[in-house]
Amino acid sequence: MRVLVTGGAGFIGSSLVHALVGGGAEVTVVDDLSTGSMDNVHPAAAFRRLDILAPDLRGLVVEASPEVVVHLAAQVSVAASIADPGRDRLINVEGTRAVAEAAAASGARRVLLASSAAVYGEPAELPLRETSPTRPAVPYGSSKLAAESVLAEVLRPAAVDFAALRFSNVYGPRQRAEGEGGVVAEFASRMVTGVTPTIFGSGTQTRDFIFVADVVSAIVAAAEVEEALALPGPDGPAYNISTGRPTSVTMLAEGLRVALRYPGTIEHAEARAGDVEHSVLSPEKAAEHLGWRAAVDMQRGLGATGAWFTHQR
Ligand SMILES: NC(=O)c1ccc[n+]([C@@H]2O[C@H](COP(=O)([O-])OP(=O)(O)OC[C@H]3O[C@@H](n4cnc5c(N)ncnc54)[C@H](O)[C@@H]3O)[C@@H](O)[C@H]2O)c1
Repeated sequence: MRVLVTGGAGFIGSSLVHALVGGGAEVTVVDDLSTGSMDNVHPAAAFRRLDILAPDLRGLVVEASPEVVVHLAAQVSVAASIADPGRDRLINVEGTRAVAEAAAASGARRVLLASSAAVYGEPAELPLRETSPTRPAVPYGSSKLAAESVLAEVLRPAAVDFAALRFSNVYGPRQRAEGEGGVVAEFASRMVTGVTPTIFGSGTQTRDFIFVADVVSAIVAAAEVEEALALPGPDGPAYNISTGRPTSVTMLAEGLRVALRYPGTIEHAEARAGDVEHSVLSPEKAAEHLGWRAAVDMQRGLGATGAWFTHQR
């Protein structure tokens, strides 16, 4: 299979490219290295350093002639989206349009977009399902929701199949503390350097943390499945990629403490305004249509993550 991965030098993208190459795929990576790193890129992948908004994108994608395009390149920081919503929108919405148009021009069979639990905002129900109301509370969530619409707008008329994969909080090796879901990376990098980690709020707030290898296996399943993924209806092409299990921030910090044998303390500070109290996403639709389920248990995922941060030090 020929696959083009935007953002393939980043946290999730680099793990995906390793898995695709390992499975025998021919992979092209497009990344401007704004947050990604060349060290992350598998040597067997063709690498093109390019901004997805650059006019050269279309020619490059047409030349690579991928069967599947996985669009991961994005502005990923919630804080940066609040500080500069215009830039967030440009990269995440217009960038997605450029990638979708280039994919359609290249004759790709399917486009997979990295979307996010942030499209739901404050949950109206738990667990969140793809049919739950989408009421983003931060510009990053709005731009991901708009990117989902742009995908449909460009690809439905072009008869290209597509899906928006709504990842919950992803963690694992190569994650940076600044990105979305960066709490694991933040705690791990502090614990290995002996700096006290801080939990904002009581620590009882929960998230659906998912190990990066599980997200990668979901993307691979979505790339390979034969049936169309863009089902009719507004939520038809959306798939939660999650464990369905809530983990409190305190449980997470304690799990990392065990994995890293961190002897120090963990501090508490006041809750941050706008933080959702509980979030968990049902993965049932992905299980049914992609034949996929998250398989890595939390302590094993934290162990692998901790080992990587220790090695980096
Ligand atoms: N990490 C999470 O918990 C999480 C959760 C939900 C959704 N996502 C989404 O998954 C995707 C990957 O996120 P990640 O955590 O691996 O982040 P990341 O920052 O490690 O990866 C993003 C990659 O995209 C590249 N990039 C950014 N802007 C670009 C541009 N204009 N042109 C070309 N390349 C560009 C960066 O250099 C980087 O390599 C993103 O779309 C993100 O929104 C991540």
